[in-house]
Amino acid sequence: MSELSILVLHGPNLNLLGTREPEVYGSTTLEGINNSLKKEGNRLQVKVSCLQSNHEGNLVDAIHGAISQYQGIVINAGAYTHTSVAIRDAIAGVGIATVEVHLSNIYRREQFRHHSFISPVVIGQISGFGSNSYILGLQALVSYLREES
Ligand code: DQA
Repeated sequence: MSELSILVLHGPNLNLLGTREPEVYGSTTLEGINNSLKKEGNRLQVKVSCLQSNHEGNLVDAIHGAISQYQGIVINAGAYTHTSVAIRDAIAGVGIATVEVHLSNIYRREQFRHHSFISPVVIGQISGFGSNSYILGLQALVSYLREES
């Protein structure tokens, strides 16, 4: 079995995790989340690479750049979840298995967060488990990819 490579993308404002609205997003920093993802990647025997950007076009470029480099993507598009047709089209366009994650439960929050442009083009969504949403997303993606092959 060849080693799977997974790209984890973090969208806008997620660089502020740790101090950003901790009552909503918890107190784990982005670095802490990335370290946990790498650790879980080691346990699952997959390679995990992480990237954060506050810019929509950079996220689109990163999704395009994943072609033939990564077998799966875990994405928390942050506020772009609710606005970005471009990120949705990029995910649909590259055809790479993708899991959408959110720290908070977006359906328990303001109405404008209830719609995701991304969810129709991903395998599934994990929302509301804090930083553990990323770990659950990675586990779900890896088992999906392994079942598929
Ligand atoms: C978020 C939820 C979004 O509504 C928000 O804009 C974020 C973070 C989450 O992880 O809970 O930036 O994606």
